[in-house]
Amino acid sequence: MTDWHPQSWRDFPILQQPQYPDAPALQRASAELSERPPLVTAGEISALRQELAAASRGECFVLQGGDCAESFSECRQDIIANRLRVLLQMSLVLTHGLKQRVVRIGRFAGQYAKPRSADLETMDGQTLPSFRGDLVNAPEFTAAARAPDPQRLLQGHACSALSLNYVRALIEGGFADLHHPENWDLAWMQHAPHAQAYGALLREIGSAVEFFETLSGQRMEHLDRVRLFSSHEALVLEYESALTRQTPDGLQHNLGCHMPWIGMRTAQADHAHVEYCRGINNPIGIKLGPGMTVQWLGQLMDSLDPERQPGRLVLIHRFGADKLSQELPELIEAVRSSGHPVVWLCDPMHGNTQQAANGIKTRDFDDILRELLEAFQVHRQCGSRLGGVHLELTGENVTECTGGARSLSAEDLKLRYQSQVDPRLNGEQALELAMAIATAATA
Ligand code: PEP
Ligand code: CO
Repeated sequence: MTDWHPQSWRDFPILQQPQYPDAPALQRASAELSERPPLVTAGEISALRQELAAASRGECFVLQGGDCAESFSECRQDIIANRLRVLLQMSLVLTHGLKQRVVRIGRFAGQYAKPRSADLETMDGQTLPSFRGDLVNAPEFTAAARAPDPQRLLQGHACSALSLNYVRALIEGGFADLHHPENWDLAWMQHAPHAQAYGALLREIGSAVEFFETLSGQRMEHLDRVRLFSSHEALVLEYESALTRQTPDGLQHNLGCHMPWIGMRTAQADHAHVEYCRGINNPIGIKLGPGMTVQWLGQLMDSLDPERQPGRLVLIHRFGADKLSQELPELIEAVRSSGHPVVWLCDPMHGNTQQAANGIKTRDFDDILRELLEAFQVHRQCGSRLGGVHLELTGENVTECTGGARSLSAEDLKLRYQSQVDPRLNGEQALELAMAIATAATA
């Protein structure tokens, strides 16, 4: 890789970055962060690349999900465990329905920075920097809260480490052990609209495990644990580059997560984010939405994956249910003719955001499901394959998206709306979506 180093992005135009008022404080924080221990290892990243390579060949399915924006105050035991449980439950339903291995990628342990449509926000005559996520500033509308604070880079690293540590401990401790399906329930499960179907599935898996263990006379050890990878939007390059390290294999890796992605707002082919990502050996996600052209995508793929390596690129399309079938086919065709062996994911969240009549930002379950089912179909019609889904979800019982089996209405949104940024599927809705995908795939 010529002319690239972890700081080479500084010579390129860059968007969506905080304007830190205190430059020496930023330098001190970055220097400290660059000495902090990494959160993941090159070996794990390489394992994810292999899994993604398998997904690009159609051998497994990717489930990527978590909060739109994590917050430091929600770096809590219950929230982390519930989110993990929902992801595991969904992956179980998908594995069973699709008859495929599921690669689980959390949208967490680092998802603390957000791109914004405007740099500034004005309220009651006062203009302040926009809230850019806990990694940068605080959401309250005061000058002190909105000033970008470099200490937050260190706090973000610490909260990511706490989250990941707990997830790893839970998994090591048998939280995801299929010999103990009781762990796979949530308290709300008993009353959830799909509890019966899900319970039946758990029992079926339980007896299959028992049957094979009896038959073989051996315990199926590998059922004790699952693998879970971490991902976030690589937005604040000060943070990402401080966690970029040369690993013993001689390669450069972002060791702050397994899979960073580039949002479309920062995906200009000749800008800093693409420059940064081209030099790291992690798999790279790219969000594709309305406005993405064949030529632009071609440039991105050529600079991020010049060697056309399976497991390197994950294309995450987010067009919205109404635009998908118009806009996706030409991109699929362009990718196919380019020869890049990508994995395609559908993000059915970000193209379906709307304001409810009462002004609350929401997404409707039916739009989300419609975009997903259509994505499967469009890929099939174009001779491609949808390799997975990218979702904003939580294990908490929030009311942020309308619809679903309980038919949440716009009025219900007020009951428990907790997201700092985008509306998430709650645990029930997330599981319902997984069941709908599994059913559609087997129909
Ligand atoms: C996000 O994933 O939260 C996000 C901001 O998405 P997009 O860049 O696709 O709008
Ligand atoms: Co979002």
